[in-house]
Amino acid sequence: MEKKEKKKKEVIATRHKVEHNMDPPPILTSSDSAATSSAGEERHAEIKWDEIGFGIVSTDFMYVMKCSKGEDFGDGSLIPYGNIELPPSAGILNYGQGVLEGLKAYRTKDGSIVLFRPEENARRIKIGAERMCMPSPSVEQFVHAIKKTVIANKRWVPPFGQGSLYIRPLLLGTGSVLGLSPSPQYMLLIYTTPVKSYHKGPLNLVIKDELYRAISGPGGTGGIKSITNYSPAYKALNEAREEGFSDILYLDAATGKFIEEVTGCNIFVVKGNSITTPEAVGTILPGITRKSIIDIAIDLGYQVEERGVPVEELLQADEVFCTGTAVVINPVFSVTYNKTKAKYKTGPGTVSSKLYQTLTGIQTGLVQDKRGWTLQLD
Ligand code: COI
Repeated sequence: MEKKEKKKKEVIATRHKVEHNMDPPPILTSSDSAATSSAGEERHAEIKWDEIGFGIVSTDFMYVMKCSKGEDFGDGSLIPYGNIELPPSAGILNYGQGVLEGLKAYRTKDGSIVLFRPEENARRIKIGAERMCMPSPSVEQFVHAIKKTVIANKRWVPPFGQGSLYIRPLLLGTGSVLGLSPSPQYMLLIYTTPVKSYHKGPLNLVIKDELYRAISGPGGTGGIKSITNYSPAYKALNEAREEGFSDILYLDAATGKFIEEVTGCNIFVVKGNSITTPEAVGTILPGITRKSIIDIAIDLGYQVEERGVPVEELLQADEVFCTGTAVVINPVFSVTYNKTKAKYKTGPGTVSSKLYQTLTGIQTGLVQDKRGWTLQLD
């Protein structure tokens, strides 16, 4: 590499580290690729798209919208991507009053940008907010905010076939509290980062029946995306990873007999022409990918059932796969439960690969979007 080019990369990397307190994305320089259109407008950010994974690459802007308890959210605005300021006594910092969302923007083959079912996230964040005693933006405000954020960061939407722009909306209790009580102020904060696959290849899951997901059981928080649902799983997740597993599959807390979810995604079980998934009532997150896959599977002629799935049925299945915004559709290679290790079909020709082709085809404009799930941005 030319000395000058190397120096330029080092300067950009150092500046990024200082400004954002995190490692920089893989940086391209002018000699690496032509990332500008003929009109001179930067079409894609200058990073090595084939080196991104599922991590944070700081983009240009984030969106902020605020409101006080008992009021409605007003207008929001775009601000430069960066750190935010909160009082030490903020509700989110002290008592975890917050919900998160996840959705993606995709680049289609003709270069346009589409969102996938953003109004579903808008509806789900409202349900989560209600459960966590927080105000929430209207569906229109939420979708408008998502569109603005993606358009402002459009150079970070990966080229067609090279990933997607992950959009992370957070609804946070930002006001001061000490006694246990809902925060007096709230913020909707939306940031983005370009991503590729969450997991690398088929999953090896383990069932650890001594712990449960989220605040378990009916009336808990399993059915919403509470921020507090995730980090309590880290200890067991780390142990599982040290034992060579990819992730944990949780059972229901009430009986310990039925499968519920993997740490960050829903689960489906395939036997012959039948596809079964735990019913999204109370303890199970009503995933938007989950819901879309049910519709696609019915269209493709599978018999789909949403009901309690006993562990024994999972262990006898032909195929198992997970769904979620981050994981998309990820086949499961094995599930270990006590001394049993069940193995499943993966690879070309499987049900999960057909569903994956159809879903990602719709998301990137290769398969006709009969239901109007995609929203074109430019
Ligand atoms: C998503 O799939 O978007 C999620 O929020 C799951 C998260 C654990 C990555």
